Amino acid sequence: SHVPYDLQAAQKGGYDTFMEKEIHEQPYVIKETLRGRLGVSDVVLPELDLAKIDWKMIERVYFIACGTAYNASMYAQDLFRTWMPKMPSFALAASEFRYGDYYVDENTICIFVSQSGETADTLAALNLAKEQRAHTISVVNVLDSSLARKSEVTLYTCAGPEIAVASTKAYTTQLVLLVCLVLGLVQHWKETIPQIQEIVKDLDRMPEIIETILKEDSTLQEYAQLLKDKHDAYFIGRRLDYYSVAEGALKLKEISYVHADAYMAGELKHGPIALIEPGTVVVALATQEEVAAKTISNIEETMARGATVILITFQNQDTSKFDRVIRIPSIHPLLTAIPAAVLLQMFAYHAACIKGCDVDKPRNLAKSVTVE
Ligand code: G6P
Repeated sequence: SHVPYDLQAAQKGGYDTFMEKEIHEQPYVIKETLRGRLGVSDVVLPELDLAKIDWKMIERVYFIACGTAYNASMYAQDLFRTWMPKMPSFALAASEFRYGDYYVDENTICIFVSQSGETADTLAALNLAKEQRAHTISVVNVLDSSLARKSEVTLYTCAGPEIAVASTKAYTTQLVLLVCLVLGLVQHWKETIPQIQEIVKDLDRMPEIIETILKEDSTLQEYAQLLKDKHDAYFIGRRLDYYSVAEGALKLKEISYVHADAYMAGELKHGPIALIEPGTVVVALATQEEVAAKTISNIEETMARGATVILITFQNQDTSKFDRVIRIPSIHPLLTAIPAAVLLQMFAYHAACIKGCDVDKPRNLAKSVTVE
């Protein structure tokens, strides 16, 4: 007799799908990605010195990527702008960068973000940046990939192999590494960063925070039931929360085929609110205290039209008007995107399971798109 052995099941390490396994690996891979990078009030990025950048000469910074990595890039650009408001910076989809006549020269830093390091559009953007003699920095997961080999500086996320087509752990490790990279860049310009010690300390706590967040799994499974017979969902948020909801909506449509749109909460009234009707599912993210009241009033506008709302917010927010609430553990507001991402991954995951979708291999999608 023999012991039945299923290689795929063994690789899933007890989880039903690769995506579920990869979601649960996040505390560990975030810890790996941050290993050796955090000081007390600074970050350690010796790789940046390899680029021989004359920091005084730099005139603009681009963040360039596709898909999930583009959502991570938008977040990074926003942080960069927060800390370096006078330095022009832009986040661009790689496919647009190539044909958009963006100005690039030797005083430009181009930052590329990619899990695979092989995405055709991102590689083409890198080649273009190099032709124009820009400095090139890549944030990549796959060791020795094309992007890693061709960039002046490569920083690796340590997510390990990501098998599920929908990105989860690669995204959150991109977020933490991009926070470090942006802090590292700003350090080179000798700009002071408000609350840097708290930010570094909370990055260090991130694996524990994500452990706590993973305990919300059953709540998200329950909330995902709301999508059982639905074809649409709307995600809203302001400021940094917008990039998180953009990724949350992307995740949901990728694996559950629910048509999901993300909007900046303040833009709702300029069109999208026309789509809200009784029973429409609205996922609202309000983790940024200084704009939370505004977001809450936008959420109430959707509730007045019958929307069913799931609210993700910070510890002290008054939520008496809401039936479905998840609170993020107390953490620096610039870092809430990381726990929020994990919540929205679990939401999408359960929605896809409820709808009977092949979570790891969604239709029409490839893990790495090596054609234009
Ligand atoms: C494909 C994948 C996405 C991914 C994008 C960028 O479209 O399906 O999940 O975000 O490529 O991939 P990269 O490897 O460059 O991060």
